[in-house]
Amino acid sequence: MSDTTKLIIDTDPGVDDAMAIFYAAAAPDIELLGLTSIFGNVTVEMATRNALRLVEAAGLDIPVAAGANTPMALPPYTPSFHVHGDEGFGDIPAETPKGAAIDESAADFLCRMAREHKGELVLCPIGPLTNVAMAIQQDPEFAQNVKRIVLMGGSYREGGNITPYAEANIYHDPHAAEVVFASGARIEMVGLDVTHRITCKPDDFEAIAQASPRLGGMLQDMSHFYLKFYATVGKLDGCSLHDPAAVIACTHPHLFTAEDVAIEVTCEGEEIGATVQSAPDRGVTSVYTAVEAAAVKDLFLQRLTVLD
Ligand code: RIB
Ligand code: CA
Repeated sequence: MSDTTKLIIDTDPGVDDAMAIFYAAAAPDIELLGLTSIFGNVTVEMATRNALRLVEAAGLDIPVAAGANTPMALPPYTPSFHVHGDEGFGDIPAETPKGAAIDESAADFLCRMAREHKGELVLCPIGPLTNVAMAIQQDPEFAQNVKRIVLMGGSYREGGNITPYAEANIYHDPHAAEVVFASGARIEMVGLDVTHRITCKPDDFEAIAQASPRLGGMLQDMSHFYLKFYATVGKLDGCSLHDPAAVIACTHPHLFTAEDVAIEVTCEGEEIGATVQSAPDRGVTSVYTAVEAAAVKDLFLQRLTVLD
């Protein structure tokens, strides 16, 4: 059996999304089959544009399918421009990509690819889960067709980052997240319990840019705005590798410690978006509660040195 992971990333790029996508492009053990875009850090139109820009910059010939532009049940909201910048890549100006998204919605693309790669496709959502929930609802076999859903999102014991209770990706569409966690799919939750343990500082981006001046330099340019935001929060020494950690968990789950917990998502009230232990009336999620942080960071930095 091939030791290469067939991967689709559902993304709201996003500075750490860009790091994750460039990592996947450089990883020898990942066959990146496509990207699907979602609102979150930016609007879905910006996310689609930014995803195309990353694919073209990395020289990848893979499809980008545009996804949902609003949450399943909540009203639309203003993206977190103060975190990722007005165009999603810090203070790097927007750039119009050469290509365009395919003429298939993200949910349709996910359902088709899960059927065509039945039992082999790993899906790595690193934004709100609206596209994934739509795929689950439109194709009753999707949850079983997809091998693993390794999602960046949630928080078990760490508390929230957008409210004291909720992590941003779950908070931005809690109803969609509840559909995903209740779906019976094999889910691995790469939440703040582990992503807050893995941080990058200016020196790390300098090293990436030195080793890969073109793409590493792009990530370094994006990082300035993102690191400034993290400095205002003051909780971490540097910026969290939220999305790269989820992609690395797709190929290196042994670097993480999991607890099997039935998870449900709070969908109303002050704690909306919290991911909490549910009654055992649903399948369990592998909740990652510890990580070999230095090993994950080293792998990230080492693989980004061969980006260009
Ligand atoms: O909470 C962190 C997550 O929210 C990351 O995926 C980041 O890109 C934002 O989408
Ligand atoms: Ca993201």
